[in-house]
Amino acid sequence: MIVKSAKFIKSIVNLLEAPRDGFHEYAFIGRSNVGKSSLINMLTGFSTLAKTSTKPGKTQTINYFMVNEEWYMVDLPGYGWAKVSKKKKEDWNKMVNSYLKQREELSILFVLIDCRLEPQRIDIDFINQAGRQKIPLSIVFTKSDKLSKNHLKSNVNTFSNVLNETWTVLPPVFITSAQDGRGKSEILNYIDSINKNII
Ligand code: GTP
Ligand code: MG
Repeated sequence: MIVKSAKFIKSIVNLLEAPRDGFHEYAFIGRSNVGKSSLINMLTGFSTLAKTSTKPGKTQTINYFMVNEEWYMVDLPGYGWAKVSKKKKEDWNKMVNSYLKQREELSILFVLIDCRLEPQRIDIDFINQAGRQKIPLSIVFTKSDKLSKNHLKSNVNTFSNVLNETWTVLPPVFITSAQDGRGKSEILNYIDSINKNII
């Protein structure tokens, strides 16, 4: 799929404000600073579409971006460590949980994992919980430009082995870099096939 257009539509803090046009939504979640907003920019090819920061806690609302006038990318606040108050984090968790539980338009939840790290309990718990809730998800390893080929392979295997303890069939896995564009065509083609009902 080629992205011809991508534009910011709105930021919401309550599901009642979400678009009502029924278009498919692809949402991006993961720990603060993992690279959710950067991935949206990389996939769309518009480098300043979603706001990014070196400081965790940048995205604080549910942000809608319309792609090719026919589907949405949804940028979510991160979970885990962020430079914000406990109260704010609780509010984000409530907002994101209600989105994940109730949003029928959600086609795939991309769960982002920093490929440089050992498996983190918070990520594994999140993925297992989303699986129990039957949320369709995919796993996206980010920042692959920061690791050698062998180190990357070893970390992806280690992570997959931990998930294999609870999953009989693993969700689809993508390896990406917002810096060099790795994984772009794979994710866009995957989204395209879901939009077209091929898988
Ligand atoms: P929050 O909104 O705070 O939850 O963070 P986020 O997950 O949206 O992360 P964001 O896209 O703002 O990126 C965080 C930092 O990681 C920024 O400094 C990015 O430049 C950097 N970053 C993101 N993706 C990549 C990547 O693939 N490679 C490299 N080298 N840096 C990346
Ligand atoms: Mg962000």
